[in-house]
Amino acid sequence: MRATAVSAPAAPSSGAVYPEDLRARVDAYLESLRFTTEPDVGGLSEAMRYSLLAGGKRIRPVLALATARALGRPVDTVLPLAAALELIHTYSLIHDDLPAMDDDDLRRGRPTCHVAFGEEVAILAGDGLYAEAFSHLLTEQVGTPVNLLAAAAELARATGVAGMVGGQYIDVANRAGPGTEGLRRLHTLKTGRLIAASIACVLILSEADPATIEAFDRYAEELGVLFQIVDDILDVTGSAQELGKTQGSDERLGKRTYVSEFGLDGARTLATESHQRARAALELAAERLPGELDALTQITDFIATRSC
Ligand code: IPE
Ligand code: IPE
Ligand code: MG
Ligand code: MG
Ligand code: MG
Repeated sequence: MRATAVSAPAAPSSGAVYPEDLRARVDAYLESLRFTTEPDVGGLSEAMRYSLLAGGKRIRPVLALATARALGRPVDTVLPLAAALELIHTYSLIHDDLPAMDDDDLRRGRPTCHVAFGEEVAILAGDGLYAEAFSHLLTEQVGTPVNLLAAAAELARATGVAGMVGGQYIDVANRAGPGTEGLRRLHTLKTGRLIAASIACVLILSEADPATIEAFDRYAEELGVLFQIVDDILDVTGSAQELGKTQGSDERLGKRTYVSEFGLDGARTLATESHQRARAALELAAERLPGELDALTQITDFIATRSC
């Protein structure tokens, strides 16, 4: 069945409050980005912006801004990094939906990029978003050259073979190891590493000390796993209308998920435990920072209780 557009989830809905002020800053900044003025590549830019501006939850860039706030740093100072994170995330979604990958027709409430623009353009739109992310980070983000390079290196590692793309490989090649450990590694790589980098890159740019970076790493790793456990649950319990993406893909593709492994109730229990661990790790990490913690706490609770 081909997708028809449904309304994109306009604002994240769940029991938890979302830091909407941060999301609005991210959305306005992304909207202002232009990738070209050259007419011959205008169609490529159009496909990139089509997926980018379709209205995602913006969890990764909002996490970056929330981390800046916890550091007592003006949130606008990390907007270029935040945009790079969302460009990379959007590229990963475009490729994840391709016929050769999950073969999904609906994303962010719209027909997927390959449905709207064709497969060849969608592949290039993903490639373009990845390169433009690093170009934007390295030319627009303010920071010392050493810190900026360290942040860019972390982002590259988090999205490479030891991170997101490695996780996607383990997923599509069905190479996850047995039991909870195997699933946790799959989830950590395919989703957790980019989420963790959204926090770590801000700390690196701000020259946080290694102990603080390590404390936040523990929080971020748990948050990433929690995010993907909930994603697995929503793939079963959500509706396309609410999620803005195809529901039931994991079962259709025979994917190993927390639900396939532990059942719905088991997955819910694991999500609750993971949420508690993430909250505890955040409290420990936050003792090391001078700024306001509310936005990070809100995102943590939102990730656990979200319905889209
Ligand atoms: C979905 O990510 C893909 C996964 C990593 C599981 P999100 O749920 O953050 O998607 P958007 O950005 O809100 O569309
Ligand atoms: C996708 O995981 C993870 C990345 C895009 C890196 P999923 O395949 O579970 O994401 P959805 O459910 O399609 O959003
Ligand atoms: Mg997938
Ligand atoms: Mg998918
Ligand atoms: Mg999923």
